[in-house]
Amino acid sequence: MEPLDKLFEAAKRMQAQAYAPYSGFKVGAALTTPDGAVFAGCNVENAAYPVGTCAEAAAIAAMVAAGGRRIAAILVLGDGAALVTPCGACRQRIREFAGPDTPIHAAGPDGLRRSFTLDALLPFAFGPDNLVAS
Ligand code: THU
Repeated sequence: MEPLDKLFEAAKRMQAQAYAPYSGFKVGAALTTPDGAVFAGCNVENAAYPVGTCAEAAAIAAMVAAGGRRIAAILVLGDGAALVTPCGACRQRIREFAGPDTPIHAAGPDGLRRSFTLDALLPFAFGPDNLVAS
């Protein structure tokens, strides 16, 4: 299976597992590391609304828990006519483990809709490099 198809299938499986009783908006995310491993996650909402977490955060947590430290590509999948791109906070979460050229794919239930680079979605990003003493 092509790497992008793998990400799509993993994100779609995750979307079905999402816990989104408040918004009703289920999201799945899947990422691959440079060695080809795939990690996926879904959004998990909470009765205390701001405590809910995004699908991307779950996928990143799964990667880190397995020892991964680099995102080679990430795909986000949600329903509806509008393009589902990572929220602002998740763009920053992705930035921690990715570079400006890292692909971020936006998918709907039927497949890939559009691809971006991290730099296009989060230009002039603050990241780990900023904290390196000069
Ligand atoms: N959501 C994500 O999981 N990822 C995003 O990048 C956008 C939003 C979730 C959060 C919330 O559970 C639901 O979608 C509606 O905002």
